[in-house]
Amino acid sequence: MRVNDKFEVLIEGMDKDGKGFCHIDKTIVFIEGALTNEKCTIEITNVISNCAFAKVINYIDYSKSRIVPDCPYYNLCGGCDMQHMTYDLEKEIKENKVKNALKFIAKESNPKVKPIIFADEIWHYRNKAIIPFGVKNGKIVCGMYQKKSHEIIDFTSCLIEPKILSSILEDIKKFLTENNITIYDELTNNGIFRAIMLRKTSREELMLVFVLTKFTNLKELVDLLIKKYNINSIYININDKKTNVVLGDKDILVSGKDTIKETILNHDFMVSPKTFLQINHRQTEKLYTKAIEMLNPSKDDYVIDAYCGMGSITLSIAPFVKEVYGIEIVEEAIKDANNNKKINNINNANFICGKCEDIIMDLINKKPFSAIVFDPPRKGCEKSFLDVIKKSKIRKIVYISCNIATCARDILHLSDTYKLVEAVPVDLFPRSLHIETICTLIRKD
Ligand SMILES: C[S@@+](CC[C@H](N)C(=O)[O-])C[C@H]1O[C@@H](n2cnc3c(N)ncnc32)[C@H](O)[C@@H]1O
Repeated sequence: MRVNDKFEVLIEGMDKDGKGFCHIDKTIVFIEGALTNEKCTIEITNVISNCAFAKVINYIDYSKSRIVPDCPYYNLCGGCDMQHMTYDLEKEIKENKVKNALKFIAKESNPKVKPIIFADEIWHYRNKAIIPFGVKNGKIVCGMYQKKSHEIIDFTSCLIEPKILSSILEDIKKFLTENNITIYDELTNNGIFRAIMLRKTSREELMLVFVLTKFTNLKELVDLLIKKYNINSIYININDKKTNVVLGDKDILVSGKDTIKETILNHDFMVSPKTFLQINHRQTEKLYTKAIEMLNPSKDDYVIDAYCGMGSITLSIAPFVKEVYGIEIVEEAIKDANNNKKINNINNANFICGKCEDIIMDLINKKPFSAIVFDPPRKGCEKSFLDVIKKSKIRKIVYISCNIATCARDILHLSDTYKLVEAVPVDLFPRSLHIETICTLIRKD
């Protein structure tokens, strides 16, 4: 098999990344965009030792699950991956992704994976949009980056971002054009205006952040936007570094309140420009509710919430337990967590700033902890952290993960001491490949 060879094939199934696959002379071939049971002509684009990649050049039979993407930019944009299939098929692929990771990475022969907790609303679910600006053919453009590139696709409306974004972007573009504000050029590192970030809470509060390379008076634009959209908080963030990271270190409040309010499971949280919040509010409430159900806490329990961010899970657990301890590496997030504890009148939550792997040993010797919740970043937990848990008396682990591959790796590492009971996928990111999962593990002895 060689690059540019063409074959007529039947797609046998789909892999964890939503690619179709088939076998040609015992070689597995992965085909972007192809769905199970589709008949198509493919062209090989790359061959490596034990597999090959191909693109579809012609569909002969379509799958019943294929649909026309709702977004006109879908084929270019890197934001969504699943718009060419029904949501039913997307759910099935996500459930299989969790099952397969637990089977093949965690080495669980028959993992119990419950049906996915799906989203009732698959559009406009994101509560945070980050939109880069650029210049194309002398015109200001803004939108999402093209798949695997730094080219901006010029658009103002996106089906998964807040609806109000579209009109705000139009106004900003118009203002920048009329007032000759220079747009940042990432190649030369010149220009002022880099990007915007918009946050919208379920209480309909809005925060807008202009990311600029240096402080610039945007008063006229700020006044216009405040008046037209009732924006509660506007910041200028200064980022003068040559970097892909959008936000710089310095946030300057230029209008309105310094934070906006979010309510999760009846607790209020103050959100500032850099606060970590799960991006799908409705599904987050379902995620936390399910995680607490799986934790099955009692009023005598001491519980740890590792990787606690600004304390949203910690404070959600607090009413059900004797005491809960949140651990988080980011100092600012711990400040927010303590503030959130105060405004919610919660007295049995405690927050510790530091790395979980550094804090855990001292902490588990302080109280008779019965359970721990993990919600680590995509890279999962440090082995040294898991090793301390293994030597503890903690009976139950509730592992919340946005990356089932690293979660399964950690479950394998824990498997001599903890038994996987069940896994529940929760769809926090409809139309994308990402899936959140909650796993419960029980101590074997
Ligand atoms: C996926 S977020 C979870 C936040 C929170 N549980 C929530 O639902 O909003 C992961 C958090 O872990 C923190 N973090 C990353 N590495 C850490 C470490 N080694 N020790 C403690 N916290 C860490 C990050 O700063 C981030 O707030």
